[in-house]
Amino acid sequence: MEAIEVSEFGDSDVLSTAEHDVPEPGPSEVRIAVEAVGVNFADIMQRRGNYPGGPQPTYVPGMEAAGTVEAVGENADREVGERVVAMTQQGYAEYTTASVDALFDVPEGMGFEGAAGFPVQFLTAHNTLFEWGGLTDGESVLIHAAAGGVGTAATQLASRAGATVFGTASSREKLDLAEELGCEIPIDYTETDFADAVNDATDGAGVDLVLDGVGGDTTQESLSCLTDFGRMTVYGAASGEPGHPDTGTLLFNNHTVLGYHLGQAMGQVPGRVLGAVPDLTEALTSGDLEVIVGQTFQLAEAGDAHAYIENRESSGKVVLTP
Ligand SMILES: NC(=O)c1ccc[n+]([C@@H]2O[C@H](COP(=O)([O-])OP(=O)(O)OC[C@H]3O[C@@H](n4cnc5c(N)ncnc54)[C@H](OP(=O)(O)O)[C@@H]3O)[C@@H](O)[C@H]2O)c1
Repeated sequence: MEAIEVSEFGDSDVLSTAEHDVPEPGPSEVRIAVEAVGVNFADIMQRRGNYPGGPQPTYVPGMEAAGTVEAVGENADREVGERVVAMTQQGYAEYTTASVDALFDVPEGMGFEGAAGFPVQFLTAHNTLFEWGGLTDGESVLIHAAAGGVGTAATQLASRAGATVFGTASSREKLDLAEELGCEIPIDYTETDFADAVNDATDGAGVDLVLDGVGGDTTQESLSCLTDFGRMTVYGAASGEPGHPDTGTLLFNNHTVLGYHLGQAMGQVPGRVLGAVPDLTEALTSGDLEVIVGQTFQLAEAGDAHAYIENRESSGKVVLTP
C-alpha cells in the first residue's frame, strides 16, 4: 500500500511516498480502508521535531482517519463494512489500524472527508470550551484562529451554547467564515490589537474565557482582556512558541489557566474526553453542527497540505484522500 513517511525532521518537503505492507489489526483493533485523513497542526509540529514525546523518524504520520472497517482483530467488537472514523497513529496511508476504543461511527449522511475532521478538532473544541473551560450560556469567549480547524468547531459550539463569541484571524476572508459560524465580534489581529478590541467591545471588562492554541505573545496578551475570575484554556502553540503567562497577572486578577491535551487526557480520563460524542454526533447528523472542510489534497500531496496550513492559507479542516 501507499503511505507517507517522515524520514527526517524538517520542512514539508521531507514528506515522501513509500510502499508499506498492509497493517494487520492486533487484539481489540480493526483495519480501516482509508477514504480520508485529517491533517492536524500537531502533524506539522511532529514533522518539525518539536512536538514533546512525538514519533522519531522514520515514521508514518496521521492521528485521524475515516474509512471502512476491512478486517477485525481478536476481541474487537466491530463488523467489516462499518463506516468509521478513528484516532490512530499512522493515518497517512491507504490502510491503517485503530483501537476500538478510539473508533467512532461516521454520522449518518456525513461523507468521509467531513468525518475525518471530527474527532481531534471537535473533541478538542468541546472540551476546551466546556469540559475544561466551563463555558456557560450568556458568557463570552475569545477564540484565537477562529477560522482554523479547532476554531471553526469551537465557534459553532460556543455560539450554539449561547455564548458571545469573539474570534481572531489573519484575514477578512477567514473572519467572514468565522462570522458565518456564529462569531459576533471578528477581529483581524494583523490590523488591530486584539486585546484592545476585546476591551473596547466589553467596556474594559474583558471576556470570561479564552481559547489559546497559538501561544507565544498571544498568551500573555490574552490575559489583558480576560475578566476578573476569567479562565483561559491553553491547548496549543501554533506560533511555534509556548506562551508564558505571568503569575503576577494571574493572582491579582484571580485568573485560572487550564492546560488541555487530548491524547494524554484520553489515556487517563476517557469518559471525560468522550462524554460529548453522542451529542456531537447527533448535532452533526442533524446539520446543527458542520465540519468545515476547507481544502482536500491527494495523499501523495501531503507536503503541499502541510505547507498550506503552515503558510496560514487554510480555513477549517484540511483533508487528504488516498
Ligand atoms: N491540545 C490538544 O489536544 C490539541 C488538539 C488539536 C489541536 N491542538 C492545537 O490547536 C491548534 C490549532 O490546531 P488546528 O489543527 O485546528 O490548526 P488550525 O487552527 O487549522 O491552523 C493553525 C492556525 O493558527 C494560526 N496561527 C497563528 N500563528 C501561526 C503561525 N506562526 N504559523 C501558522 N499558523 C499560525 C493561523 O490562523 P490565522 O492565520 O487566522 O492566525 C492558522 O490557520 C494548534 O496549536 C494545535 O497544535 C491541540
